[in-house]
Parts: sequence; C-alpha cells; structure tokens
Amino acid sequence: MAFNPLEHRGIPLEKQVRSWRELNVEPLDPDNADPYTRCRVITMNGIEVEAVMFSHHLNRVCADMEVKQKLAEIRYIEQQQQKAVNWLLPGQASVLETTIAYEQVAVDLTGWVARMEPDPYLKQAYEFGVLEDFDHLYRYANLFEMIEHRKAEEIVDGLTEVMPGRPTIQHHRHPADNLNEPYDRNSAAPISKLHALTIMAAEQQTMNFYMNVGPQYMEPIARQLYQEIGMVEEEHVTHYESLVDPGETWWERLVNHEYNECYLYHSFMETESDPRIKAIWELHLNMELAHLHAACDLMRTYDGREPESVLAPELPAPVTFEPNKQYIRDLLANQVDLTKLGTGYVWEAHERFEKMQQQLMGGRPPASEEVITEHRDRMGGDYRLETEGPHPVDRLRA
Ligand SMILES: [Fe+2]
Ligand SMILES: [Fe+2]
Ligand SMILES: [Fe+2]
Ligand SMILES: [Fe+2]
Repeated sequence: MAFNPLEHRGIPLEKQVRSWRELNVEPLDPDNADPYTRCRVITMNGIEVEAVMFSHHLNRVCADMEVKQKLAEIRYIEQQQQKAVNWLLPGQASVLETTIAYEQVAVDLTGWVARMEPDPYLKQAYEFGVLEDFDHLYRYANLFEMIEHRKAEEIVDGLTEVMPGRPTIQHHRHPADNLNEPYDRNSAAPISKLHALTIMAAEQQTMNFYMNVGPQYMEPIARQLYQEIGMVEEEHVTHYESLVDPGETWWERLVNHEYNECYLYHSFMETESDPRIKAIWELHLNMELAHLHAACDLMRTYDGREPESVLAPELPAPVTFEPNKQYIRDLLANQVDLTKLGTGYVWEAHERFEKMQQQLMGGRPPASEEVITEHRDRMGGDYRLETEGPHPVDRLRA
C-alpha cells in the first residue's frame, strides 16, 4: 500500500528521548539470527551515523540559535537510534566476522540498488562499485579462515557467493578518477537521490570501521589487508558522494536525509523476518516522521519552497535484502576489467592508473594478493563459496 511520510506525524519530538533501560537492547542471537537481519542492522547504523554527521556539519555552518537548538534536539535522537541499532550486534562476533557482514551488506544492498536504479549513468556507478566490494568479501573470507579457522559460509549463510570479483589490486586508481558526474537535483527521479544517499552512507561507515579496527590486529597480514581495503573504501566514498548534486541547499539535503531514513525504516519494517527487530524499525520510522516534518518546516522557512517539490509523492518499493547471485555473475562476465578515467568508464589501464599502481606497489604484491597466496600455500587452495557453479570468468576460476 502506498505510504506518504508527509501525511503522518509520527511521535512528537519531545516524546522521543529513551531511558538507558530502553536503549539497552537485547543483541541478535549470534548463532540463529537471519543474516539479512544483521545486514539491515548494519545498514541502519550507517544511515544513523550519516544523519548525525550531516547534522554536525550543518550545525558548524549555522549561526541561528533557534535552528541550532532544533538540530541538536533531533541529533540527540539520531544518536540514540544509532546506539539502539548498533548495539543489536552481539559481542560474541569477532571484528572479522562483522567485517564479512559489512561486505555482504555492500554486495547485496548495492546489488539491489543497481537493479532498481532508473538512471543509466548512476546504475553504472553501482555496478562498477559492487564488483569491488564483492572482491573484498573474498579477500576477508580467506583471511578469516587463515586466522580464525572458520568459514565465511557460517556468516553469509549461502545467500551471497564468495569468489573473486574485480581483483582488489586493480581498485587502486588515481584519486581524480574516483569522481563522478552528479545527478541534476531538478530532473533526477526521487528514488535516484535516495539510492545515492544510502550507498554513500553505507560506504562511509565501512571506511570508518576499517580505519578504526584495522590496527587492533596482531597478525601483519590482517593489519595490511585492513589498510589496503580501507583505502579502497575511501575511493568508494568519493565515488558515491560525488553522485549527489552539490547544488542542493542545506535544507533540501536535510529533508532528503530524513526522507531517506523514513524510506529505509519503512522498507525494513515491511521485509523484516524477526518480529522483535521489526518493532524497532517501526518505532524508529515513527520517530523519523517527526524529524521529516521538522526538516520540511526549516525548508519552507529558509528556502521558501514546499518540500513536495523535491520529494516523491509516496515511498518507492521497499529496499529488500535478497540474493543477487545471478546479477553479480552477469556483471562479472561483462564488467570485471572496467576501470575509471575521470568521470567515465574505460577498459584499458591508462597512464594515470599505471603510475598510481607503480607508486603504491613498489614492485611487491599487496596484502590482497598475499592473503590468497598464503592461504593457498597453507591450505592447498583459496577459500570460495560458489553455490551456482564455476566462476563466470575463466581466468578467475580456482
Ligand atoms: Fe535517525
Ligand atoms: Fe568493501
Ligand atoms: Fe566499498
Ligand atoms: Fe532522522
């Protein structure tokens, strides 16, 4: 049924503060939770972190005390939502286990978005990026078996395949080649704006996660792999954030952020398999509706425009976590050798790409290659989970 967030008021802002007792959520069962429930938790953590950081940036350039107070009030609630959501992750999970779940999110969320995106240039950006996070999943899965003696299939549960994507060594482009052309805020479909915000937020939290947890490892190969993939996530943040029209006003961006939170909580409420978690998505949706109304009021006051002029008349089809195996396989077969030149996509390794590679590698293979070599030497092969047959690209077969 069509849901228009502008027609619902939600929970009044002054009633949204939760006690410590309410924030102390029961974590997911580490052994029996639906892997896609964990993916939804990780996604919403990324979205809440983005809400908080965006609001801080706005606060830093805003001189009006009344507006700053409203932003601070909403931001406090976003932080409480972030705490309630991220604290659903169980303490038993190792950092590497959570890392593998992060890359599963990147694969199946970006895969869904790529399939649903109506604009061909934006779609290409998601298709390009998803093949890289797909490869990260494979590299981390090999590290996981090597240092924790466990298999990534326990975590992805056969919903996502684990095998080489575009090899990580090829992700290290010249920074200027990670930029893209933005959509046009006046003509882009509302769903395109939501997609760009969602994937930007997901990549940003992945970048933050790796930069913080990487040095917690003792094993040199683990430290190096987190460093290397952490630098690729920096590239991904640049890649996706540059899709967003920089001409959007601060108020328009605030409205888009709050609308996107409504969209995702509504999506996850509709698709959640765990009733206890579904109730959290529903509660947070009802909080976001009030944030959205507050953002709309600010837009009317400071932009002199109606929010309806930038928003969809109703929520698009729900964002759904589901396997994207055949889609990824088709992309592998058709786009594995693609790279970037400026804001476009090319097949050849060009001069700027080669120069960057030489500077970084210094004549030695990076950790993303070493982890596979070491795994092969110790265990007689690499770790893969190919549920749909052999790899679609000949030279990437086991
Ligand atoms: Fe929020
Ligand atoms: Fe990644
Ligand atoms: Fe990424
Ligand atoms: Fe919000």
